[in-house]
Amino acid sequence: MTAPGSTPDLQQLREIDRRTRRPSLTGQTVDQLGGRASLLVRQRRDHAELDRLLQVVADSRGSEQDAALTRLGRLVFPHAYAEETVVWPVLRAVLSDGEELTERNEQEHQDVNELWSELDRTPPGSPRRDELVSRIGALLSADARDEEDVLLPRLQDALTPGQLRRLGRTWQLVRWTAPTRPHARVSRRPPGNVLSGLPLAVLDRSRDGLDRTARRAPALSGVCTGASRVLAAVAGAVEHLPPLQRGERASTRPGRTEAAVAGAGRRAT
Ligand SMILES: [Fe+2]
Ligand SMILES: [Fe+2]
Repeated sequence: MTAPGSTPDLQQLREIDRRTRRPSLTGQTVDQLGGRASLLVRQRRDHAELDRLLQVVADSRGSEQDAALTRLGRLVFPHAYAEETVVWPVLRAVLSDGEELTERNEQEHQDVNELWSELDRTPPGSPRRDELVSRIGALLSADARDEEDVLLPRLQDALTPGQLRRLGRTWQLVRWTAPTRPHARVSRRPPGNVLSGLPLAVLDRSRDGLDRTARRAPALSGVCTGASRVLAAVAGAVEHLPPLQRGERASTRPGRTEAAVAGAGRRAT
């Protein structure tokens, strides 16, 4: 308890903040979250689908797991890209501790991009794949919980329901047109990630189309797989363009965890 007239210390302020903060999104109704169009409702819906797909990935093996991972990636990467370009900049603008809050989340996104890029390069049957899948699953769960329990309730405090609905519609629009695959070399912050959006979305979505055709028409599989590899190489080159690697802060530029991941890879091989 703070004595009357005295200044509460940081620990006390954190405790007051914890007690007065909005509850997690999980415990709120759609109306409390601002209605069906609200960013918070849209986020919670995607996170529920994420949890379901993570369970399918954990319970399956071989081609069934590969198919579940593909569905998971198509959900996760556009969702995260739209957060990084649309939602976190707003959070930084309206909250005094927005920098600190979003940086942790961007680090989780960066780690997922790096680990998933390694997963794409790891051959089927390698024991490293199971380790990567489980680390990606743990990171994605932690990211969704951080958002539902901390970041998004804080945003809810700062914005009106109308603003949450407008932000939700913008986020959805960006999510529909965003890149669909991991890109560990582009910045997780503007301007790099915004500049990377269009070229990488075109390349990723073309590859998604080729992969679908290869699955539906086995006779075309060789041609489609070859073309998809060429597009992957182009995307890899695009990621290295310096303007796409520029973030607002050094800590949000790519490659921060590459050394750690490479170290883990070396230990595993
Ligand atoms: Fe999210
Ligand atoms: Fe996220």
